[in-house]
Amino acid sequence: MRATFLPFSTPTIEDAEINEVVDSLKSGWITTGPKVKRFEEAFKAYVGAPFAIPLTSATAGLHLTLLALGIKEGDEIITTPMTFASTVSMIILCGGTPVLVDIEPGTLNIDVGRIREKITPRTRAIIPVHFAGQSCDMDPLFDLAREFGLTIIEDAAHAVGTEYKGRRIGSLESISIFSFHPNKNITTGEGGMVCTADENLAEEVSLMKFHGISREAWKRVTASGTPNYDILMPGFKYNMMDIQAAIGIHQLPRLDGFIDRRREIAEFYNQELAAVAELALPRYAPYQQRHAWHLYTPLLRIEQLAIGRDRFMEELKKYNIGSGLHYKAIHHHAWYREHMPVPDSELPNASYASERILSLPLFPKMTMDDARDVVAALTAVIAEFRR
Ligand SMILES: Cc1ncc(COP(=O)(O)O)c(C=O)c1O
Repeated sequence: MRATFLPFSTPTIEDAEINEVVDSLKSGWITTGPKVKRFEEAFKAYVGAPFAIPLTSATAGLHLTLLALGIKEGDEIITTPMTFASTVSMIILCGGTPVLVDIEPGTLNIDVGRIREKITPRTRAIIPVHFAGQSCDMDPLFDLAREFGLTIIEDAAHAVGTEYKGRRIGSLESISIFSFHPNKNITTGEGGMVCTADENLAEEVSLMKFHGISREAWKRVTASGTPNYDILMPGFKYNMMDIQAAIGIHQLPRLDGFIDRRREIAEFYNQELAAVAELALPRYAPYQQRHAWHLYTPLLRIEQLAIGRDRFMEELKKYNIGSGLHYKAIHHHAWYREHMPVPDSELPNASYASERILSLPLFPKMTMDDARDVVAALTAVIAEFRR
């Protein structure tokens, strides 16, 4: 058995990031400033977005985007139950009503073919989540958006570097929201980015991210700025700091390499686990894309095992292998069970996955020996608890 614990994810931080953070700390400028601007420009160029707004998190991006779109009580927003809570929480906190559409069993992305039946006169937007870094099928989503006058807000928290039919997520005719949480494909510690081609939306999100103070307000404390300022609207405090951007500036150029490495490990898992009858492996969508492999999420066929998923994860730990849970479906969480109950029969694929899914270790610094240890531990636990 391996001697040290293998977490399910850990960020790849090199000297370049560390030195850049130290440079910020020594510079006297640690909050929003020139490095945030550099990161914004670099990210915008990478994804091909006309406008990008750096923030403290993707959650902040979802919040401000929904507010900027004027989402209010009575508005319905269609999304997936197989996501992190904030996709849905932000809808509720803006007064909207989340409408959950089931997932496809292979990719675990929202089942685009099931959306039309959930559209009502109150529907305002659709939030597809590019689950695990694999793009949702965007063309039919854009067709629906045009037909019904809806906005598409991509929850691209997993999809930094994902491509759909040759186009990068972030450059499509929608709003895309990325996360730079430490587990994500690149990190800024915590952080997020809203990308859009809509100048008015970009302007509004920019204003709301920092107290409603006009856009370049941080310059007011520099030699070229003026200390006076005006509040153009009530706003939040969601601005990314230079300390965060200092990390991102050096992560971004390595992103493609990170994704290549993630793919190598994912394909190793695909190959080594293909014959394990107790696992249903993640599937590739049929359309052309680049999967960013943020997560590797097989489903356990628990009917063939004497233990459930949570116990299975505990057993993996005994082999010093960590795992993650992405996700217990939204409608299985306590608050949603109580306040917005949805029977499993309405979301059969998400309900099935929710009880069986686990995330295997997947991060660029992992060695192939680490990946072999994961396969060995999985097969050992399965052999021990096979029915
Ligand atoms: C699908 C999804 N949406 C939104 C978020 C929120 O991102 P953040 O932690 O940057 O707020 C996450 C983060 O885990 C996520 O996985």
